[in-house]
Parts: sequence; structure tokens; C-alpha cells
Amino acid sequence: MSNTVTITLGNRDNATYQVNPRRPLLDTLREQGVDLPWGCEYGGCITCAAKLTKGDVDQRAQVALNNRQLNNGYVILCVARPTGDCTLEVGVESHDTLYRNPFLDPLADHELKADIATPRDAP
Ligand code: FES
Repeated sequence: MSNTVTITLGNRDNATYQVNPRRPLLDTLREQGVDLPWGCEYGGCITCAAKLTKGDVDQRAQVALNNRQLNNGYVILCVARPTGDCTLEVGVESHDTLYRNPFLDPLADHELKADIATPRDAP
């Protein structure tokens, strides 16, 4: 794996940052001045969620996202490490499909059981 990868922030004028792929994106982006929401810093609270629109990350340590949120492209920046160049949408603006209003969008029968993520195999 190379020493740095390029992270593009699609909703920040496509600003690019070189980051160490061995460290969580929350740390490497914040250190370069990117203003990001965050809370627990261990992958449990969902505050730091961002939407991955290109590339891939290793976020096996996250426990905050369910399968729907993963399928919508969400990543948990405090534990996610990029596996190559990535494009992200960050900040609360990227949370448009993170939460679900159960009154506007009721759960289907098959979704009534625990809505938790299934672990992904190691890359
Ligand atoms: S800061 Fe809590 S999940 Fe990332």
C-alpha cells in the first residue's frame, strides 16, 4: 500500500487531501483543517458519518451503521481507513439518507427484526 492516498471532498469544492491510509480519515482530514462533526471516536455514535461516492474504505471496526446505511454508501470516518483514492461527501449535509423517518417510510415486514449490519469479510 502506498504511503498516501488522495481524498476528494465532493461537497467541499472537490478539495483534495493527501492522507496516510493506515490512519482513520477523521484524524487525517481534521489535522489538515477539514471541519467535521464527530463524537465518540470509536465507531459507535454515527456522528462522523460521511457518504463514500468513489473508492473503498476498511471500516470493519464500526458498529454504528446498519445494512441500509452501508448500502447507501455511508462510512464512519473515525474508524474508516481508505484502501485507495476516495471521494466523500462530508458533514451533516451528507446525512440526508442517514436517518429514516419511520412515520414517512414505515419498515417492511422483513425489516422488523434487529436492523444491524452483518460483518464483512476481510479485504
Ligand atoms: S465519532 Fe462516533 S462513530 Fe465516529
